[in-house]
Amino acid sequence: MHYQVDHPLLTHKMTILRNKNTNTKDFREVASEITMLLAYEALKHVELEPKTVETPLCPYEGGAVAHDVVLVPILRAGVGMLQGVLNLIPDARVGFVGIYRDPATAKPVTYYEKLPENLRDPLFFIIDPMLATGGSIVATIDMIKKHGNGHKANKIKVISILSAPEGIAVVEKAHPDVEIYTGHIDEYLNDHKYIIPGLGDAGDRLFGTK
Ligand code: PRP
Ligand code: URA
Repeated sequence: MHYQVDHPLLTHKMTILRNKNTNTKDFREVASEITMLLAYEALKHVELEPKTVETPLCPYEGGAVAHDVVLVPILRAGVGMLQGVLNLIPDARVGFVGIYRDPATAKPVTYYEKLPENLRDPLFFIIDPMLATGGSIVATIDMIKKHGNGHKANKIKVISILSAPEGIAVVEKAHPDVEIYTGHIDEYLNDHKYIIPGLGDAGDRLFGTK
């Protein structure tokens, strides 16, 4: 299942992000702002457990997030979204996954994995600005499901800033239980598997490597 978040502010900010003349500082800031809008939407159905507190006047029967929320940024570009989600869930735990696309084949190559242990009913959010062929996201979901470690990794959501329709289909076929929240679904992938119209290479634009 996938959801394209619909909000005029998102289109405003996405236009800044896509602009090739946007500098690294502005790109980083706007990517973080967009992430907050997407994460707010992705967290809409988070489960609560009852929690009663005392106001200065009387008891109040409220709620608290029932899961251990685990954010999984895919290195490198996912790191550019991390603070945006942490602004909303400051006590989230964070696991890192290192994956790059082989430039010749566009297939994902995994080089790092560090996921948190001892989780209580975890809710995972994989964060990566770009869902292109879907290979990196599928590899990350596989990794989280395998990690297990006593808990059932059956609540996994993906937050991406931009997605290609081909990549969404690949993720949904491999993992129909995972929900995708994305800012825009673009038109297609070019011969180099870049998203069109897209925003270019998210990692390079976030970190000023080119
Ligand atoms: C980019 C992006 C995703 C991946 C998406 O990373 O951040 O992780 O490509 O492509 P896919 O859906 O076809 O797998 P990249 O490989 O450029 O690595 P980097 O972040 O280290 O630059
Ligand atoms: N990775 C990117 O950074 N951009 C794309 O368009 C596709 C994959």
